[in-house]
Amino acid sequence: MALLQFISAGLPKVAIPTTIHSDHLIVAEHGDEADVMNAKEQHREVYDFLSSASRRYGIGYWKAGSGIIHTIILENYAFPGGLIIGTDSHSPNAGGLGMLGIGVGGSDAVDAMAGMPWELQCPKVIGVCLTGRLQGWASSKGDSSALHSRCRRFADRCRHHSEACWHTHCIRWQWRIIEFHGPGVQTLNATAMATVCNMSAEVGSTSCIFPFTDATARYLAATDRSFIADAARQNSNLVIADEGSEQHYDDVIHIDLDTLEPHINGPFTPDLSHPLSRFSADISQSSWPQQISQAMVGSCTNSSYEDLKKVVNLVREAEAVGLKPKVPMLITAGSEKIQATVAREGILRELEAAGATMLGTSCGPCVGQWNRAGADKHEPNSVISSYNRNFVGRHDGNPATHSFVTSPEIVTAFAYSGDLNFNPTCDTLTTPSGQPFRFSLPHAEELPLSFAKGDTHYQGPPRDGSSVVVMVSPTSERLQLLQPFAAWTQGNADDMAVLVKVRGKCTTDHISPAGPWYNYRGHLENISNNLLTAAENDFLASSPRVSRGHAIDQVAGTVESIPQVAKTYKKAGIRWCIIGDTNYNEGSSREHAALEPRFLGGVAVIARSFARIHETNLKKQGMLALTFSDAKLYDDIGADDRISVLGVEDMEPGAPLRMRVKKRDGKVWESWLEHTYQEGQVPWLMSGSALNYVKSQRLR
Ligand code: F3S
Repeated sequence: MALLQFISAGLPKVAIPTTIHSDHLIVAEHGDEADVMNAKEQHREVYDFLSSASRRYGIGYWKAGSGIIHTIILENYAFPGGLIIGTDSHSPNAGGLGMLGIGVGGSDAVDAMAGMPWELQCPKVIGVCLTGRLQGWASSKGDSSALHSRCRRFADRCRHHSEACWHTHCIRWQWRIIEFHGPGVQTLNATAMATVCNMSAEVGSTSCIFPFTDATARYLAATDRSFIADAARQNSNLVIADEGSEQHYDDVIHIDLDTLEPHINGPFTPDLSHPLSRFSADISQSSWPQQISQAMVGSCTNSSYEDLKKVVNLVREAEAVGLKPKVPMLITAGSEKIQATVAREGILRELEAAGATMLGTSCGPCVGQWNRAGADKHEPNSVISSYNRNFVGRHDGNPATHSFVTSPEIVTAFAYSGDLNFNPTCDTLTTPSGQPFRFSLPHAEELPLSFAKGDTHYQGPPRDGSSVVVMVSPTSERLQLLQPFAAWTQGNADDMAVLVKVRGKCTTDHISPAGPWYNYRGHLENISNNLLTAAENDFLASSPRVSRGHAIDQVAGTVESIPQVAKTYKKAGIRWCIIGDTNYNEGSSREHAALEPRFLGGVAVIARSFARIHETNLKKQGMLALTFSDAKLYDDIGADDRISVLGVEDMEPGAPLRMRVKKRDGKVWESWLEHTYQEGQVPWLMSGSALNYVKSQRLR
């Protein structure tokens, strides 16, 4: 959808370096090559579109099989002192190389691609001072767990200070960047720092960053970018924490790495953290299945060369005493480069000989792309992985799969025990000859002498792509080129019907549900058929059977699905608006929640309050985003009212707008509506969308 929006802006090419990564749609089933081939077949039209549009608009395209986005970014694009935005929540991963990475919605990405300034409410900065050095089985994953618990304690303090702010989904913690500093930083290698930054997304922070260190320089050199390391050294005052910076942080947390022990997190949330020494006791006290059914190493968090090297070293030890994994193992290399390197070094062969299945270099089970046999039986079972998320059903769709996340080396040790009631730091396994066996401390080189090339799936942008035809079939059900929205016309907000008065909690998933709709994210017309289908309509509160996802068609007097009524109004030329409750569209920044009402003829959303990103998304798509001056006015809006917003054409920042409500019996009442439009945002509305405005400025 981001690309489709960019195309609709009519710009010749992207204004800043941009890449697209196809890593989310490869289903883990048979292993590497077969799975990638299947994906290419199944999603051919989507991949063809991405490939042709990339060439047309000067974008680099990392095709299916090239690797996981954040690993590719680390290997090719991240550099100390840079800023990168990505349409994936783990974009802070780039902080491992000293680059500020921030996850954004598609509309934000399109703004940047179009050369518009990208805005963010200025975050506070939390300084995390590291001292000491990780010991034993503790790893960057253990470090992340400690970070979690420290951050949770910090968040708890916020909660005590302001219950209200916590209720608006922990906003106080969200608007924070975590900056690591202190002597302990020097003991971490680059991919370990990236893992910690990656996992910062799990505490909801805006981003996370490490300073430039010798390890950063070593990683840059190994990935053929010594010149960047040299430049960073020459300007080191710009890419390390400021002298005396502790006084300038909004809060400071101290972590002594010596004191950290490995953690296992789960099930069902990465927040539920168990120190390894207590895990066995926690398992005994729970009803979680003790036997492990699957072990998985991979994801953007833990699939580096060093991770796989640690895994194979443990596998070698176990093989040497005749042990075999007790459960199936799935292993993913983070990129084609890593995959080619471990293949060159014979590591791949050894892992496969030990019984592991190598998956394609993609997200796979981490994002639910796992055709797991028997998952549909919904049997309770436990899996252990080095992934970063373990929400209900996330890997295999089975809500009874108890997923535990930890480091790659602990996953490997557990694969040989087959039992969660095991502590590799002190417990032994029994070899076929009856001898006790204990794994030695995990170890590995952080980097290979050189990476193998392995970038065969990358398509660079041509020098001139202006003649490339973007491949979108007019009969496609998954893709549809966007038509620019019409510019604002005088009186556009006069006499609007009220499509729906949303009641209570309304997240992005209430406005544009996911699940089977995932396939239509590139087809605005088709995906618009899910508009508000999970939202509660206050006008139908007395009919619980239809109150969710339905609306009263004021023309026919019937009750229909909300998108159907919207289509009817659009066809009849009836302007309409949505009435929203508090924090309307909390949750994700998915731009479909703003695009769909606009596409179906909506003019305004008037709410008690908005989630910030959605309010901006509405503005960007040319919809009027307004709030009641008094939240109680929400109660006074009736199903058959007609609403006019007066003076929109002359609106000014900070000045409220007049709302006139006409009842069916002819009575009229008026009140005020607030808005947050800034001077530069009013032209978005008048042009029909932010992209229309960008385009008009270019053509001037
Ligand atoms: Fe992919 Fe999982 Fe990372 S979905 S981007 S591997 S969090």
